[in-house]
Amino acid sequence: MNPNPKEVAGRRAAELVRSGMTVGLGTGSTVHFTLLALAERIRAEGLAIRGVPTSLDTERKALELGIPLVPLDAVDSIDLTIDGADEIDPLFSMIKGGGGALLREKVVASISRREVIVVGPEKVVQRLGTTFALPVEVVPFARPVLARQLARRGCEPKLRTAKDGSRYLTDNGNEILDCRFPDGIADPAGLERELDFLPGIVETGLFIGLAHVLVIGHPDGRAEVREK
Ligand code: A5P
Repeated sequence: MNPNPKEVAGRRAAELVRSGMTVGLGTGSTVHFTLLALAERIRAEGLAIRGVPTSLDTERKALELGIPLVPLDAVDSIDLTIDGADEIDPLFSMIKGGGGALLREKVVASISRREVIVVGPEKVVQRLGTTFALPVEVVPFARPVLARQLARRGCEPKLRTAKDGSRYLTDNGNEILDCRFPDGIADPAGLERELDFLPGIVETGLFIGLAHVLVIGHPDGRAEVREK
């Protein structure tokens, strides 16, 4: 069976973790393999870490796997965070939030000394927004207003629904507008600054200047590590 690029990347990043570290635990199907690898290292070599989860899903998985967790209020800074991405460009700017965890992921990234991003090769793009819609987390009350304001900025906002068609809410009780930009995003940093000013937007999935290391898993089993 061919190696799974997500597993290759997720497991390679887990090798960067050292005993004594406070570790940010990202969210998603690539980080899933990081969690498995960390749990294996805890059992096999007594790796001693404190994990800070970025979502309720990751919290549940980490607890099931026996990864010790620590609440955010007991932490000033995080040594290393390992997280996935939906797109990453040559400057390591990213779109995140496909799994809906963008707010907590960004808070954790903002206090992380090193943010390691784990992806398969299809996530590496020249221009953000070309393969993935930008998730924007919004307060439900403000959503109709924001949908119009976002559309005026050249995108097509779509309210996210759960797989069964029911209302989708983030871990923080908010909604997500997935905003497709037909030609991609020309100026991600400028767009982030602009959106941050709109009342009712809780957070955008644009992650600018937050990633330090990129681990790309390849289908031939190779893990490529790029430093910013
Ligand atoms: C969660 O909200 C996202 O930011 C994830 O980090 C991202 O969607 C990860 O994607 P994978 O499931 O493909 O790793």
